Amino acid sequence: MAEPNWRVHNPSGKRRVIITKELPGGRWLDILTTADCRVEICTTTDVLTVEAIRTAMGDRCHGAIGQLTEPWGEELFSALAAAGGKAYSNYAVGFNNIDLDAATRCGIPVGNTPGVLTETTAEMAVALTFAAARRVCESERFLRAGKYKGWLPTLFQGELLWRKTLGIIGAGRIGAAYARMMVEGHKMDLVYYDLYPNPDLESYMADYSTFLTARGEAPVTCKRTETVEELMAAADCISLHTVLDPATRHLINAQRLALMKKTAILVNTARGPIIDEAALVAHCRTHPDFKTALDVFEDEPALAPGLADLDNAVIVPHIASATAWTRQGMAILAATNVAAILSGHPVWPEADIAPFLAPDPPAAAPSILNAKELGLSHLDL
Ligand code: DGY
Repeated sequence: MAEPNWRVHNPSGKRRVIITKELPGGRWLDILTTADCRVEICTTTDVLTVEAIRTAMGDRCHGAIGQLTEPWGEELFSALAAAGGKAYSNYAVGFNNIDLDAATRCGIPVGNTPGVLTETTAEMAVALTFAAARRVCESERFLRAGKYKGWLPTLFQGELLWRKTLGIIGAGRIGAAYARMMVEGHKMDLVYYDLYPNPDLESYMADYSTFLTARGEAPVTCKRTETVEELMAAADCISLHTVLDPATRHLINAQRLALMKKTAILVNTARGPIIDEAALVAHCRTHPDFKTALDVFEDEPALAPGLADLDNAVIVPHIASATAWTRQGMAILAATNVAAILSGHPVWPEADIAPFLAPDPPAAAPSILNAKELGLSHLDL
């Protein structure tokens, strides 16, 4: 990798903060400047190595904002602590790239960016679902290649999802938002698998059923399955929304893929390693009517051999959260996490982070994952 380039903003700031990629928007930079930070931003788009990040932190660095592509573990957190560091934020809601225990041992609060990705990522999961179901990318390739010779009754038949069964694995914020969009838009029954019940989603489904019934339409059903296997067999379309941890790595493997309906659709906007990608490629090859749509990959940016050649796979480069509003919101939350901790502010006690996007944001860190372990105080509301 060539030597990374860095640009400096507010050079006279008393606290030194490094940011390992350019972030969108401008408000995040104002937040750090107002907190008296000298901000050093890496303008190189290559993924930085651990060594390059260590070098950038040097022996005086008070805070850092890093990316989901970088392994923030013992080595980086102890280097940050040794440089006088007091705060880190991931520019992501997911934090499988972070060793939280190591950060806690080094006394570094770790922030993330929840709340601003929910609808954006759910919308992308919907887009991928229908791109796969209706063979959008495959038929576009066909058209662009000059192969379209006129309308045919049999050309690119896809799957109708109206009134079919939707399965979600992981019924947290994004999974539940996707489920509501799919159920309300397409009157689908819902099965979900999650370690915990989601009573809010269940009551939403019940209320929606009441609404449908009152209009003389058939209701929709909602069931939390006991096992992943039960869900795999029941659903016509399955979307993954779980975190990646040792328990969910390769949750979707050859055995579980084999349980899915022959015409089913599998969507992943969560994390790549939740699916055994080689097994998925093999399954797509032997089940031509099965379809998959992936935003994330097991060994990003590499793709499993054969994946890019499959007509029944839609693949996009980890862009589910890529709207201007969301990416700017993530930058505001990450910058506020770091600025607030460096300024000695407490942690925000609520899940709703909307006040941080408003004109007069609270003096608090919006989301600190190891606040409890570090004994950080919360803002009194
Ligand atoms: C996240 O924030 O975890 C997302 O994967 C970024 O798109």
